[in-house]
Amino acid sequence: MPPSMKRLAILTSGGDSPGMNAAIRSVVRTALGRGLEVLGIRNGYDGLIDGEISPMKSVDVGGIIGRGGTILRSGRSPRFMEPEGRAAAARTLKENAVEWLVVLGGDGSLTGAKLLHEEQGVAVIGLPGSIDNDIPCTDLSIGFDTAINTAVEAIDKIRDTAYSHDRVFVIEVMGRRNGFIALEAGLAGGAEAILIPELPFDLPGICDMLRAGVAKGKRSSIIVTAEGAATASSVQEFLQKETGYEVRCLVLGHMQRGGSPTALDRVLATRMGAEAVKVAMAGYDCHTIGLVGTKLVAEHLGVVLSTQRNVDPERLLLAEVMAL
Ligand code: F6P
Repeated sequence: MPPSMKRLAILTSGGDSPGMNAAIRSVVRTALGRGLEVLGIRNGYDGLIDGEISPMKSVDVGGIIGRGGTILRSGRSPRFMEPEGRAAAARTLKENAVEWLVVLGGDGSLTGAKLLHEEQGVAVIGLPGSIDNDIPCTDLSIGFDTAINTAVEAIDKIRDTAYSHDRVFVIEVMGRRNGFIALEAGLAGGAEAILIPELPFDLPGICDMLRAGVAKGKRSSIIVTAEGAATASSVQEFLQKETGYEVRCLVLGHMQRGGSPTALDRVLATRMGAEAVKVAMAGYDCHTIGLVGTKLVAEHLGVVLSTQRNVDPERLLLAEVMAL
């Protein structure tokens, strides 16, 4: 390598999300195309601390655009939450002459990136990768579209059985702290009720709604609950006890995090990955790429992490009208 060649490194961190590979591919190929050397860090921040870093060539990211998960692997790193861990991570970057670090992950991973910049002066560019879609300053995070399509496919299948057997089904989707997946998948799947952590819900009211439905000839229903609102089993138990109807429940769990990314996620990841390299080379050093409308914007991580992204309550009202 000529000594003048600048180096950019990339890692994936936190929960994996479909489209991460497409983003890695884009970062690697854009950076190589702009004359940089690219290094891949395996196993997230833990790998950065431990020096699991090696060069990536174009061929290393061949054939991965349609693959879920992350070829770099991911994880949550308690060691990186401590200043000593971040100092060790910065040492790895320095020893490998890395000029820019691209971090692909959720809000916890981006918080880590910001600290690395503030404490160690590392130039970082974040890419929003999370099925939860809760990262502020972007309309979409990489992986959300695939996750909601996975959930909708499951809801559609369950509805067949719900209809055939006159049953109520409670489907639990991911979302520890927010209801973006529940709202979007519930609306798209025609759920009769959607429970999210951000807004109060009324289980006795849902029982009344089910009874009213039966009175007008509706013999099956789907309730979607975000894991952070109520567990499917607790809702099942309550509805069954109160109404006497046959209620079943299902937890979709981590299957929402896997699978081949949708075209939307692949294109989003490809656009965002290329933009990350562009803004890094332009001198941005503590920013995250977001999609606002149809345009990509680079927002300072300080702004991103002090902003809250809220669900749109209109969507819940819309779902209620559709369930009438
Ligand atoms: O952050 C994404 C997410 O899928 C959440 O919705 C979920 O609660 C969490 O990850 C579970 O992650 P893990 O099982 O990897 O800790």
